[in-house]
Amino acid sequence: MALITTKQILTPQPSGWAVGAFNVHNMEDVQAVVWAAEEAQAPVIILVSESALKHAGAAYIGSIVKAASERVNIPIALQLDHGRSYEVAVECIKEGFSGVMIDGSHLPFAENVALTKKVVEVAHDFGVTVEGELGRVGGKEDHLNVASQDAFLTDPDQVVEFVESTGIDILAPAIGTVHGLYRGEPMIDFALLGKIRALVHLPLVMHGGSDLPVAIIEQAIASGISKINVGTDIKYAVTDTIKEYFRDHPEEFEPRKVFGAAREQAKRVVGEKLLLFKAVGKAREVNR
Ligand code: G3H
Ligand code: ZN
Repeated sequence: MALITTKQILTPQPSGWAVGAFNVHNMEDVQAVVWAAEEAQAPVIILVSESALKHAGAAYIGSIVKAASERVNIPIALQLDHGRSYEVAVECIKEGFSGVMIDGSHLPFAENVALTKKVVEVAHDFGVTVEGELGRVGGKEDHLNVASQDAFLTDPDQVVEFVESTGIDILAPAIGTVHGLYRGEPMIDFALLGKIRALVHLPLVMHGGSDLPVAIIEQAIASGISKINVGTDIKYAVTDTIKEYFRDHPEEFEPRKVFGAAREQAKRVVGEKLLLFKAVGKAREVNR
């Protein structure tokens, strides 16, 4: 089916389960995500970061996602992930993305509000969903490397003002998850998440969904998270498989075999996440 918006994917707002949102970089990643979601009959959000856009081009990756989506019968959204400028958001809207995340978390509050609001105005004119970030998720994402001293949790006193003055559809709060692999125990502030959940009604996103224990994912979902972003676990599935492949077949020169093996493992990881997020069979619950 044709792409639908991220907001539609999250309507009615998932409760007791979460929609998986997965970072992709190329055709094999897109196929891995879409095929795993189809097998699971789960709705899915495909995320493209700024680095992935630079690598693949918005038009190319957009066309691949649309081609994949039209060949299955599950709800799929295509969303810019951690867009840092108005210009990149507009580029993705023009290419038919159905959601954009504008990440002004590196800016002072007032500037984050102003940038996010400007993106909301243009995105909503085109019926495109907007996700905003308040507080700053730490770790390594894309070309961004947010050291722990530069990461900060969401200030609950700013949440209502941020949501109301920007007009965003989805909120990504910083609750202690980090991008990339965790160093030591993940420290998630579930009390803060509970406060934020009580303050606003829009869908809440958990970034940094890789490398987390099952219990944390389950508690996050029970505490009101309805979209979980996963990138790093797929990257490792792909690159570890390629390394192993060449270790076992040093003479191999056929790219299809190498990338096919990597795609299989990426698909397996996405399938496991959909199961963990209790998203299996939820395609029929989405208002299309
Ligand atoms: O926006 C994307 C994510 O937050 C991915 O985080 O690479 O730690 O899974 P991750
Ligand atoms: Zn993220």
